[in-house]
Amino acid sequence: MSGATPATGGTAPSVPIGVVTVSDRAFRGIYDDKGGPGIEAALARILLTPWHPLRRLVPDERPEIEAALRELADEGGCPLIVTTGGTGPAPRDVTPEATEAVCDRMLPGFGELMRAVSLRAVPTAILSRQTAGTRGRSLIVNLPGKASAIAECLDAVFPAIPYCIDLIGGPRLDAEPAVCVAFRPKGA
Ligand code: MTE
Repeated sequence: MSGATPATGGTAPSVPIGVVTVSDRAFRGIYDDKGGPGIEAALARILLTPWHPLRRLVPDERPEIEAALRELADEGGCPLIVTTGGTGPAPRDVTPEATEAVCDRMLPGFGELMRAVSLRAVPTAILSRQTAGTRGRSLIVNLPGKASAIAECLDAVFPAIPYCIDLIGGPRLDAEPAVCVAFRPKGA
């Protein structure tokens, strides 16, 4: 069988994935949202499993970010929610706080790896407080707002994402092996 055939088969239901842009300026229409489309382009490259984005654009306000994350997890049923923006040290950067507020458990390894990989590109990578955690059967991952950071960070952590989603009871996600070797321990 061709390696390009999704392991889930042609009848697999499309998986909803939350794509959340956190940006005062994109929210006000001062500039176009480049982060959300950047996340979608990266996911389109990586994922074999049929999926569709549930898009949200929110300002840098904790209540709005938390409401979007809760809604995508609890009502949208997204096994994966990816945010972009609001991870830095500026006073209005509150995405990590909002993420922590809605998560049951944090997964600090995601932020550690993304900062380490980003540091090869920019010394300011250490300014991002990006993190990840789980809310029920949803994994929430923060990315920085810079467009170039999105693929760098997502490519680094994606090999661990399908197995993480298996472990929290979400649907099976398969990645395109030429792009991302998703790791599942033998027997999983
Ligand atoms: N990571 C990568 N890969 N590439 C980048 O350009 N920018 C850094 C950092 N991480 C950057 C990066 C900078 S300058 C900042 S301030 C922080 O992410 C936080 O960005 P954010 O507030 O837009 O999330």
